[in-house]
Amino acid sequence: MHVWSKLSSTKWRDAWEERFLGLGQTNAVIQELPGGKSIRVDVYCKHEKEALAIAEQFGGRIRKVKNENWAAMAPPIRKPIIIRDSLLVTGEADPKKITQLAKLHPSRQILSIPAELAFGTGDHATTTTCLRILADLAKSHRQNNHEWSLLDAGTGTGLLAIAASRLGALAVEGFDFDPTAVRVARRNIKRNKVQSIDIYEADLFKWSPSKKTHWDVITANLFADVLIPNLGKLHDVLSPGGHLVLSGILSEHKEGVLSAAEKTGMQQLANMRKGKWVTLHYQKAG
Ligand SMILES: C[S@@+](CC[C@H](N)C(=O)[O-])C[C@H]1O[C@@H](n2cnc3c(N)ncnc32)[C@H](O)[C@@H]1O
Repeated sequence: MHVWSKLSSTKWRDAWEERFLGLGQTNAVIQELPGGKSIRVDVYCKHEKEALAIAEQFGGRIRKVKNENWAAMAPPIRKPIIIRDSLLVTGEADPKKITQLAKLHPSRQILSIPAELAFGTGDHATTTTCLRILADLAKSHRQNNHEWSLLDAGTGTGLLAIAASRLGALAVEGFDFDPTAVRVARRNIKRNKVQSIDIYEADLFKWSPSKKTHWDVITANLFADVLIPNLGKLHDVLSPGGHLVLSGILSEHKEGVLSAAEKTGMQQLANMRKGKWVTLHYQKAG
């Protein structure tokens, strides 16, 4: 494996994110350096020629690394991400440190999601917004004594599925077309000691439900060109009164998603923008 790296000013972060973290790409890590003025962009490539092609376009450095050294190469632990009063997402994997965090945050579920070769460590705007909506939905289900289930389309590290399970969802399923993401998600499920989450490899374009046929909440943090043609399918597997959270939409692609969602007849509950990313929250008629 080869890693292409480049230092850049923080003001270009959006442009790097768009280039290397858009379209569901999972092999990049963008990390702010101490002082906050610079970032380091690392892109992990299976073949040297991919790294060379990036270097040709953007300059930067290339180094060869062994796959198994990923943990050593991973960036230092990120700041914990706090969601409402119910979740804390950390990159820590050390059980002692996780116990310390749990003592400091007794009301929060602590989720350990170390940086790996899959998207979704919680610090991307599209994921954080989904986590907030999930935390709010979980609270309302708890207050109303409702049992609920979740489907996570394009699960990446499995973070949203794990969060839902810790927040009280009874049946949780997630899938991703990237076999690395599926492996990472399964590892994170074990690491976070959560049960009843089914993770499998599938492409949303070909996916159809197998065991369970309807879900109370569906999260789909996917690019607009994946969401638009599959919105009808997601709507069909949503329970009456169920919630659909669509994220990962670049603001310039929002209109296409809005009109596809309108055709399903769902009610829009929220339309949130963070930087150039949009998250839409819908509810199916009861
Ligand atoms: C933006 S990431 C979201 C990851 C995680 N759910 C989160 O919210 O942080 C999108 C994920 O969807 C996966 N993906 C993209 N297109 C897909 C498709 N057609 N079918 C299934 N998974 C897909 C990618 O591999 C990636 O892991």
